[in-house]
Amino acid sequence: MASKLWEKNVTVNTDVETYTVGRDREMDMYLARFDVLGSLAHITMLQSVELLTKEELDILTAELRDIYAIIEKGDFAIEPDVEDVHSQVELMLTRRLGDTGKKIHSGRSRNDQVLVDLKLFTRERIEDITRAVASLFNTLIDQSERYKNVLMPGYTHLQVAMPSSFGLWFGAYAESLIDDLTVLSAAYKVANRNPLGSAAGYGSSFPLDRSMTTRLLGFESMNYNVVYAQMGRGKTERIVAQALGSIAATVGKLAYDACLFNSQNFGFIKLPDQYTTGSSIMPHKKNPDVFELTRAKCNKLQALPYEITLITTNLPSGYFRDLQLVKENFLPAFDNLADILSMVTRMVSEIKVNTEILDDPRYDLMFSVEEVNRLVVAGMPFRDAYKKVGLDIENGDFTARKAVDHTHEGSIGNLCNDALRALFDKTVDSFDFTTYHAAVDSLLGR
Ligand code: ARG
Repeated sequence: MASKLWEKNVTVNTDVETYTVGRDREMDMYLARFDVLGSLAHITMLQSVELLTKEELDILTAELRDIYAIIEKGDFAIEPDVEDVHSQVELMLTRRLGDTGKKIHSGRSRNDQVLVDLKLFTRERIEDITRAVASLFNTLIDQSERYKNVLMPGYTHLQVAMPSSFGLWFGAYAESLIDDLTVLSAAYKVANRNPLGSAAGYGSSFPLDRSMTTRLLGFESMNYNVVYAQMGRGKTERIVAQALGSIAATVGKLAYDACLFNSQNFGFIKLPDQYTTGSSIMPHKKNPDVFELTRAKCNKLQALPYEITLITTNLPSGYFRDLQLVKENFLPAFDNLADILSMVTRMVSEIKVNTEILDDPRYDLMFSVEEVNRLVVAGMPFRDAYKKVGLDIENGDFTARKAVDHTHEGSIGNLCNDALRALFDKTVDSFDFTTYHAAVDSLLGR
């Protein structure tokens, strides 16, 4: 039998409790620091509307900052009998401060507490992901510059098509990450609105100052409609998950390219041995397992928005306990993606490129369009030039001129990497992480 914040006369059976709490205590550990930040803002606001005295605020603030430090040190735990992180923090305050600790829950519910915790958590983790994406972006651009003059075949239908370059290949994934970050920045905006003060989903008759907690927590705005604030649970996570999935899709495609280009039949790139594994039977094997696992991990991450959609599908407005389960899918996803990004950044920086691909005559035909274009520039109508080169190929008279010298925009000799760098920086600036940092520092008195 366990005791709960909400327990009155009925006691809860342990097996029912185990079933309903499930992995929630473990998940709530992700939210602990943010729960304290939400409480710091809430009590500051409560004092401003005279629901706490100045002395009570000062004592509570000191205790909450102390709990925050305990969490940072890794010494915080949710006790076995305590239902969740919200109850644990309140219990610690009440143990230390008695009645003053019991006052902080005026005008709020665990429903808006968990909402605000999730948003604060998400904001911070999006910043981490943005940094990790920046490292990968920079590494890709560096590799693009390093190999900008090394040609490789481009493919359509996986058939040799036209000349491409390693500069283009690496740079393509860099630019893809910019679009992914643009999506992530929109998701960040959705996460950056304050649900606190919506209480159980229908607000409070206390004169809560929601603009004040919005400012104190460094949110861009609040979720104005308290019913919508609650409806944002599950939706915010889904939108953010879509953005994480977008990054994962880019990295997964890169991983597949890397596996393909590393195979003997292509032989375009070489992965350092430490990222390959051997076979128990075939002594010659160096399998690209790390990229293969990257691909699978990226695919799993792309399932995340769909998992969240299905957990929350068809829920009407208002709070439901179903929402608790979203945490199990959503909260660990950031660490998973951060791990992927850091491993891929290392691998990309160490990829060695085969600079002699074009010595192999099987790639000669990728220069057919170049030959057609040369004839066109010399005055032959395109369709005639196309036919002539086609016939030459059939008759074995085609000799590839293995060079590409055009440098206009959109051609393979012009990578536009400086423009990409500028666009990347502009995209990162659009997040505005500084406002929330300043808010958090000030809540913590730092
Ligand atoms: N663990 C709960 C969740 O994540 C916290 C909110 C509890 N509220 C409630 N009405 N049971 O949703």
